[in-house]
Amino acid sequence: MLKIKKITVEGLEYGCFTDVQNPRFCITLESDRNGATAKSHRICISKNGEVVRDTGTVESSETLYLCCPGADLAPYSEYTAQITVCDDAGESACGEVSFETAKLDEDWSGRWIYDKRVKLEKNVIAPVRFAKNFDAKKPSKARLYITAVGNYFCTINGEKVGDQFLSPGWTTYKAQQQYQCYDVTELIGESNTIEAVVSGGWAVGRMFAMIGKPSGGAVAKNTMLLAELHLSYENGHTDIIATDKTWLSAPDGAYTAASIYDGVCFDARCDTAVLNYKKVSVTTPKMVGRLLATYGEPVRKTVELSPVSSHESKKGGMIYDFGQNIAGVVHLKVKGAAGGEKIVVRHTELLREGEIFTVNLRTAKATLEYICKSGDQDFYPELTFMGFQYIRVQGIDSSKIEVSAIAFTSANRSVGSFECSNSELNKLQSNTRWSGMDNFVDIPTDCPQRDERLGWTGDISVFASTACFNFDMSRFFEKWLLDLRAEQDKKNGALPFVIPAGKYGIFKTHSAAWGDCCVLVPWAQYLSGGDKTLLERQYESIKLYVDGCAKHCKDKKKPFIKSSPRFWGDWCAPEGNAVTWFSKAPWVGTLYWANSAFILAKIAKILGKDDDAAKYNELGKNISDAYLKEFTDGNGVLKAPFQTGYVCPLYFNMYDGEIRETMAQELRDNVVNNGNKLSTGFVGTPYLLFALSDNGYSDTAYDVLLQEECPGWLYEIRCGATTTWERWNGLQPDGTIFLKGDESDKRSYDPEDQTIACMVSFNHYAYGAVGDWLYRRVAGIEAIEGGYRRFKIAPVVGGKLDWVKAIHESNYGTIVSEWKISDAVFTLNIEVPFNTVCEVTLPNGESSELGCGKYEFSCKM
Ligand code: BGC
Repeated sequence: MLKIKKITVEGLEYGCFTDVQNPRFCITLESDRNGATAKSHRICISKNGEVVRDTGTVESSETLYLCCPGADLAPYSEYTAQITVCDDAGESACGEVSFETAKLDEDWSGRWIYDKRVKLEKNVIAPVRFAKNFDAKKPSKARLYITAVGNYFCTINGEKVGDQFLSPGWTTYKAQQQYQCYDVTELIGESNTIEAVVSGGWAVGRMFAMIGKPSGGAVAKNTMLLAELHLSYENGHTDIIATDKTWLSAPDGAYTAASIYDGVCFDARCDTAVLNYKKVSVTTPKMVGRLLATYGEPVRKTVELSPVSSHESKKGGMIYDFGQNIAGVVHLKVKGAAGGEKIVVRHTELLREGEIFTVNLRTAKATLEYICKSGDQDFYPELTFMGFQYIRVQGIDSSKIEVSAIAFTSANRSVGSFECSNSELNKLQSNTRWSGMDNFVDIPTDCPQRDERLGWTGDISVFASTACFNFDMSRFFEKWLLDLRAEQDKKNGALPFVIPAGKYGIFKTHSAAWGDCCVLVPWAQYLSGGDKTLLERQYESIKLYVDGCAKHCKDKKKPFIKSSPRFWGDWCAPEGNAVTWFSKAPWVGTLYWANSAFILAKIAKILGKDDDAAKYNELGKNISDAYLKEFTDGNGVLKAPFQTGYVCPLYFNMYDGEIRETMAQELRDNVVNNGNKLSTGFVGTPYLLFALSDNGYSDTAYDVLLQEECPGWLYEIRCGATTTWERWNGLQPDGTIFLKGDESDKRSYDPEDQTIACMVSFNHYAYGAVGDWLYRRVAGIEAIEGGYRRFKIAPVVGGKLDWVKAIHESNYGTIVSEWKISDAVFTLNIEVPFNTVCEVTLPNGESSELGCGKYEFSCKM
């Protein structure tokens, strides 16, 4: 029987509000008939039971990213799409999904409002409370459309609207900004108060603090609010309560300070009825571009963690350990406060000699100050977040307080799991996922704790593929890529180092790996999700970038050696410092350029642009030839050997035959001579194990994976890591914090601590990109065509693993690869989703091709 398992519209099963006229539908089906495929589909969209669009029967085997074009959809309307799919045996299945249009192109009747009295001073801006009282009849439907310059949270009659944090999210505001749509029908009574507190957030204040400096680059000077509450009645009438001159604002609410890096000060004694309210001012902000209904992934709570232990701090107060490094906020429950007690909570990733270690936060205060009202109270801060595992709570008797930690993320939909017989690898998988979740806070960040938390492009370049195995990244990446396109130089394709760029946007270039994010991120998402329209949308951006790299070949006689820019080379390699990492930029730049050219050629082919496909293949080959000539002896042996210099050409498939063999052998020897340890930085590490295992050295790949000394993934696990670190030697073998860094880097020198704490984040995901190898080689699941329409299962056994089980919920359906070795027999159980083809290869080399179904194979080891 053919069955519909799931339908999404614009990537969501439920709760889709959209400004898209042509929403995309993905249909996940299952069939008990092995090998079944789709033959045709039909989509009908109706409103109030009346069909408004109908595709008729479409003869196509595609079931992902289908559209149903037709007459314009109307704003503020609820639609249902009925979808029928027929398979190749004539069976059919039916299902439906609902969505609601937001404002589409309707003008806003609300005005942007702000409080003239509240200004940005020394990069700090106080939170503003906006409020409006209104009477209403009970509506049949109430919707709130709302956004802010800054971050906001909104309440109606004291109840928080929605379950999101840090709205409206972070975008390249001048190009586009999200507004949120909420169903608030249940919150409306007869006499109502709508309130919103707006802080500087990502838009106004000191985001983008340049390494260790307190000042930053505000995008705007005032915080602002824009809202429309639509109250619809049975008789068809709609009342709109919109932000306008009649709203009031106050600069002196319970939130006396709120910012992303520094945290929140909250006075619970504050009576919000008697604040210094004044009528608001209205304006038309210049820094806000198109307003679009939320199209990204909002930040939402995942879990709330209780402390696993606590002890008294020598400096007063209690220290609590939540057992997991998270991004989020603390939740306080206070009993029997006298009123006026000031609780101060500091957040840290680590303890040092039993006390909180805050040096690696640089200038981020990451502090909650909470002044109690009298009696019992329950509080967690909005408008900020911290990266922490430990807190120190001072200012209250510990018997009166209970604490927990709210972890939040935009990576809300898990689509993958990996488990095996080695518990330390399972911990590694867990750490990789946590670093993903902790760093997907509306945008892909580098770290959640110190005064950066920026959309560093190189980090996501290397982690995107691992992210896609674990989480549904489609909306998250689409949103970020829209900003990427907005930030990109329209003439030469150069990109800023962080996106959204803010002040960093002043400098745009084609830095190796960091710049290549415009190729690597959409490509990873396409392979995982299968949306060709994403490739279409990104195509010009990719081409512009790949073409633009040519201008960095400074030596005219060497037109394919990308000798500049010197950012960031083999960044964070275990040996050396920024100077030595940067010096590798010509190698890394040239290699990543070749890879981007080859990927662009593949994309061109998929989009039917055959001329471009040939052109960029040729470019990739020319760059490969040039690399061989410039950096090797001509046969593949590097003149100045380093692991990344071999890893990339191997993984990027730049050479065949003897050259490839030579490079693989050199790499393997280098690794073995290095005690089975990696010496790769951000840009080589994700591909190191592939470069070994795909060229006959899977034993060495496993040796590196299972390396227990520094640098090595298990080293971190043995030091107690719960997330992946920015630097391998973040902690020394005795568990003490790495105190020596690049001594020349005065910017990060902390005289009090005698510590160079420039770069010791314990929550960076780049090295977690090894998760990709766990899924793609250990479990063996690898997409060949976008969305796993065609894929491989070819496990690489080794590392003394007895069993492995990986699951990936692809858009076509569940993929399972589960193997075990017992009595020298290898057994593989797999699940292949409807409408896909799987090429299975067993460790003995036997292979077969299968359509959907569940299968078991075995062979002798
Ligand atoms: C960030 C990185 C980033 C790097 C640029 C650091 O400060 O935390 O992860 O990619 O700068 O090289």
